[in-house]
Amino acid sequence: MDIYYVDGKFVKEDDAVISVKDMSVLRGYGVFDFLRTYGGKPFHLEDHIKRLENSARLIGIHVPCSNVEIADIVMRTLAENNHEESNIRLVITGGISPDSITPTNTSKLMVMVTELHPLPPEWYTKGVKIITSDVVRYMPGAKSTTYLQAIVVLNNARDQGAIESIYVDQNNRLLEGTTTNLFMFFGDKLVTPKGGILPGITRQVLLDIFKDEFEIEIRDIDKNEIGNADEAFISASNKEIVPVVKINDLTIGDGKIGPKVRRVTEVFTAYTTEYGRSAG
Ligand SMILES: Cc1ncc(COP(=O)(O)O)c(C=O)c1O
Repeated sequence: MDIYYVDGKFVKEDDAVISVKDMSVLRGYGVFDFLRTYGGKPFHLEDHIKRLENSARLIGIHVPCSNVEIADIVMRTLAENNHEESNIRLVITGGISPDSITPTNTSKLMVMVTELHPLPPEWYTKGVKIITSDVVRYMPGAKSTTYLQAIVVLNNARDQGAIESIYVDQNNRLLEGTTTNLFMFFGDKLVTPKGGILPGITRQVLLDIFKDEFEIEIRDIDKNEIGNADEAFISASNKEIVPVVKINDLTIGDGKIGPKVRRVTEVFTAYTTEYGRSAG
């Protein structure tokens, strides 16, 4: 059984509880972040903790510990468990409020470590279909626990044989997926949406790694540009790089994983492997 950290204590997952009065339960008011390990080492932990802190600041949630303390708690929770590779979920709840709507400084930190399970291999060998949905997230820069829109559009996506849905705003801009960022190749140019998104840590790592290899454009992408894309992929901490071969009814390129997305995957895999091997 996994061991979680909940508000100052390490507990078995079945004994990990918070109050039913917490605003996370009553109002969906909480923030979280999610990362995984490579070689047992949490990938870009400080960046994830900074994003968690920023999410909390944006929606007005009190952070009960310093960033250094959170990093230490993550390392201790990993040590309490003994997985070769782990998923790590950090959650800060909204806390208990006398009128159940006004925040107080009673937020709780939870760190949940679980064993990493591989995703379907055919996603990576054949590529996937994704769809688009006319949905705009409230405060997209915050990773809040409110995933109502995501759950609904992802269910619709699965009904259509797709694994992800990309949000499209009122101006017909492609934004991001429910839990992923979007990248497209137009010729040799690597393009990723600019605004209205959660700044993905994987996205940022990719932008850094490829800054000298590809011409990169961070700009709005109109939905009508999908038909002109030569290759596409989505990125996320748990999914890494997933090649996209179909968006709605439009086939991307020749419907097979293209050479540039293969290259992105290879270089990213080399980066994560090296990250896991390096000390510190
Ligand atoms: C809305 C949204 N966009 C993008 C991402 C990808 O971010 P990251 O690469 O940090 O996992 C996520 C991750 O869950 C997400 O929820």
